[in-house]
Amino acid sequence: MEQPSSFHPASPILDFCPPSLPARWYTDPAHFQREQREIHARSWIHVGRVADLPPLVLRRIEIAGQNLILVKDDKGVVRCLHNTCRHRGSELCQHTEQKLKSKLITCPYHEWSYDLEGRLVRVPHVPETPGFDKTAHGLFSARVKLWNGFIFVCLADDPPDFASLPDIGADALNNWPMESLVTGHRMTSVLQCNWKVFWENYNECLHCPGIHPTLCDMVPVYGQGVMSASEVPGWTPEAEAVSPLKEGARTWTRNGQPCGPEFPGLSQAQRTAAFTFVTLMPTMYVVAHVDYVRAVTVRPLSAEQTELVAEWLFPAETLAAPGFDLANVVDFAATVIREDGAASEMNQRGLRNARFEHGTLMPQEFDVFNFQQWVRRKLGEPLVTRNTRP
Ligand code: FES
Ligand SMILES: [Fe+2]
Repeated sequence: MEQPSSFHPASPILDFCPPSLPARWYTDPAHFQREQREIHARSWIHVGRVADLPPLVLRRIEIAGQNLILVKDDKGVVRCLHNTCRHRGSELCQHTEQKLKSKLITCPYHEWSYDLEGRLVRVPHVPETPGFDKTAHGLFSARVKLWNGFIFVCLADDPPDFASLPDIGADALNNWPMESLVTGHRMTSVLQCNWKVFWENYNECLHCPGIHPTLCDMVPVYGQGVMSASEVPGWTPEAEAVSPLKEGARTWTRNGQPCGPEFPGLSQAQRTAAFTFVTLMPTMYVVAHVDYVRAVTVRPLSAEQTELVAEWLFPAETLAAPGFDLANVVDFAATVIREDGAASEMNQRGLRNARFEHGTLMPQEFDVFNFQQWVRRKLGEPLVTRNTRP
């Protein structure tokens, strides 16, 4: 297919219609395990906000099927340790959260104790034994990276360079006071779909006209089935940037008005853009508005189940201001997230059909294509090119 001449060469619109991923990759438990190993166990995974992790509390988390402990010491250092005792492998932390009685992690089985760096410090009820080296029996640890108040963990011993993870750059949110923002609302849901279905839906707006009436009213360009003006025929890079929001609106709230003072450090371009999306594949995306920030975390549970956690982050003063209307902020995006969730589940149900082997992407689905190429690359599968025959 030739690229229609009305699209500028700098437009991201595709000039061919690539095949999408094999349908089996969305339903097959063995393929899911392969993705967990090849993708999630080797990526930086978002596991929560630093401010939401109390010090000296063990929090049990799971990444790619691995049972882990997250802990923050009294100096604020966050660590991630594997939840397995070096004696005979018992689980150390048995609860979702467990307050420490001291600065030691003590195994509930035979009471070996470790400090918060994972060093073995006590082996009670056992005589001094020649040949047993405590220093060789520390807990296994995973890498931790803090970014804008979010905690990321990577299971790999050779983690990828974190700076290359945020799609629009690690500095993208520097003008927002990210670390001091407070979680004002959290919405957790379990979607009956594969994690890739959610991300594919995130990566296109071709569904927006049919699925998101309220969002299309707020962001009129979405009503054309595209994510930005650069995908509209006739666009040129010289075109003056204008707010994508409807007239009079400043942000994603029910009434379009900011829920508190706008962040003072934003550039004029960031104010005009009204919202800035940062994607950290495969684990989360952040949407920074002029008055608040939203973070959505995508956690695969099984081949056909995905947990979604949406968090709304505010300056503490905004939350405490008299008359602050949380529902005015939360309802808008919560509706969009529910609509996307329902669309993803609908997609998943259809994907199970034995007649459907793979789909075909349309030119506006360039970011779905980019995502699928990324998945293929992570799995060591051949990439699709213009000449690939399905
Ligand atoms: S398994 Fe932990 S002390 Fe024995
Ligand atoms: Fe959507």
